[in-house]
Amino acid sequence: MAVDLSLSWLGLEMESPLYNASGVMCRLREELDAVAASAAGALITKSCTLEAREGNPEPRYFSTPMGSINSMGLPNQGYPYYFQYAAEYDYSTGKPLFVSLSGMSLQDNLTMLQALDDLQLPCLPEVNLSCPNVPGKPQLGYDFAATAAALCAISRVYARPFGVKLPPYFDVAHFTQMAEVLNACENLRFVTCINSIGNGLVVDMDSESAVIKPKGGLGGLGGAYVLPTALANVREFSRLLDHKYVIGCGGIDSGAEAFMHILCGATAVQIGTCLHEEGVGAFSRIQSELSDIMEAKGYHALTDFRGKLKTL
Ligand code: DHB
Repeated sequence: MAVDLSLSWLGLEMESPLYNASGVMCRLREELDAVAASAAGALITKSCTLEAREGNPEPRYFSTPMGSINSMGLPNQGYPYYFQYAAEYDYSTGKPLFVSLSGMSLQDNLTMLQALDDLQLPCLPEVNLSCPNVPGKPQLGYDFAATAAALCAISRVYARPFGVKLPPYFDVAHFTQMAEVLNACENLRFVTCINSIGNGLVVDMDSESAVIKPKGGLGGLGGAYVLPTALANVREFSRLLDHKYVIGCGGIDSGAEAFMHILCGATAVQIGTCLHEEGVGAFSRIQSELSDIMEAKGYHALTDFRGKLKTL
């Protein structure tokens, strides 16, 4: 029997569980169109702010054999650009569209969500609680009380289903505290785990230098560096959240890591660093690797193994 990679969640139907991580191939309309035309099962836009931003000075992204470091600083076209894209998007292609929002303040996020609500589009917002790269702005996701207040305020202006992008957590107490905050918000329907591991530092031996310019070289880590942390976050939030979906992101380079994320409970998975390095061909490659792994293991559908990680 042929392997079936399709999935159905939140009333959305996807042919494949793979799509881009916000930030990669999604700042411009042409990039989004290329993801839509690829084997990806969905697409998400670059985190946007009220006003367009140039972002941080370059070099601001660097890749190594183990992953990437970035401090982009939220370069984006401003929310009207992405909402216009969402208004013109052809939803009949069967690839759901997610819109990532990362206002510089809670009020900015509320303003954007109110505007999105007014448009009554079939896209879903992913509110980014975890941008680590704007100098002087701590991540909301590491402040539990502020996150609880933000989710409450969001629910008042936006009564439809939405999701959040979370930073990685590293302490069991933090998983349980954050899960409690998230469980209290009824129309929060999905969480994406994880954003980059914030404020790492990659050093070049020859030049004895940092490799990116902003923040003295500090930046968010992605790729293989972050896989075990991503899997732990997917697994723990899948266990701790009630009736919410977890989207996996972090360190997916091949079918094997996509399989691991789904085994840990991910409904769908996003590709960041690997997509940046390889381009949209990554989707068809990883998809066929995932199919081969499933076939070899005798699995026909994602539901045959989703969330079924064994522990010793
Ligand atoms: C940026 C990086 C992030 O990890 C994020 O969540 C949002 C924006 C950036 O630097 O542009």
